[in-house]
Amino acid sequence: MTLLGCGSGHSTRERLREERKLCRCKVPIRIEKAAVNGVAGWRKRVEDGSLRLRLQKGDPRRLFEAERESYHQVARAGLPFPKLLEEGKSHFIVADAGVTLRHLARAGAAHAAEFETALIAAAETLARLHRAGFSHGRPNLCDICWADGQITFIDLENFSSKRNTPDGHARDLLIFFFDILAERGRVDEVVRAAARAYQAQDRMNIWGRAQARLDRLRPFVPALLWLTRPVAHKRDFRGIPGFVSLFDAKA
Ligand SMILES: Nc1ncnc2c1ncn2[C@@H]1O[C@H](COP(=O)(O)OP(=O)(O)O)[C@@H](O)[C@H]1O
Ligand SMILES: [Mg+2]
Repeated sequence: MTLLGCGSGHSTRERLREERKLCRCKVPIRIEKAAVNGVAGWRKRVEDGSLRLRLQKGDPRRLFEAERESYHQVARAGLPFPKLLEEGKSHFIVADAGVTLRHLARAGAAHAAEFETALIAAAETLARLHRAGFSHGRPNLCDICWADGQITFIDLENFSSKRNTPDGHARDLLIFFFDILAERGRVDEVVRAAARAYQAQDRMNIWGRAQARLDRLRPFVPALLWLTRPVAHKRDFRGIPGFVSLFDAKA
């Protein structure tokens, strides 16, 4: 693969610099590429606990331990997350899972077909995760990897057993499609194909639950769109109309 993804030939530093540019998710220094016995992986360290971060996210050590334990839990359940290759007091290393869907989405026309294939696979894999009774917690495109025709979710910072419920699955589904719509700007054939892929695996009507959740917010949407007019072109806002229409039960 000629992408900036793992194994692309770019150095870690170059890749992280590119990640920072391309991916709105933070890629702080606490995350870096690493290898364990020749197996490529990513080292994650306890986050540096500035006061702002503590207020926003909570105690970094507790979050770190919770994420580490979540990696153990999903491994025991045989779910599509990378294996833990190494563990230390203040770090762990998970196996490299390939290129993120965010990279693929922005990799240009030459990779458009691969992005579509990966996105459909991600929607199916998310539905299967939900069928197994688990939620990811925040399945953004930069937390979903693609390698050798395989989807692997990463980043368990928002994973929590209290979200492993139909409501938690619906929340996941809304986050996933919100990020897709933010990326693509409108509902196109690729977005529709991903929606169909999820629905085809959806045995618990999680899609209907997500529609009901969004319906409760629908009365506020016109005001939200009006208030956000000055930033309507920006990534996080431009997808809102398409997102709302995708989950419109009456459409
Ligand atoms: N196992 C992995 N395989 C491939 N890329 C990874 C992996 N782990 C982390 N990354 C890269 O590092 C980025 C940040 O890692 P992540 O675990 O999501 O940390 P954060 O909690 O800061 O979002 C990801 O978006 C991805 O680009
Ligand atoms: Mg992340």
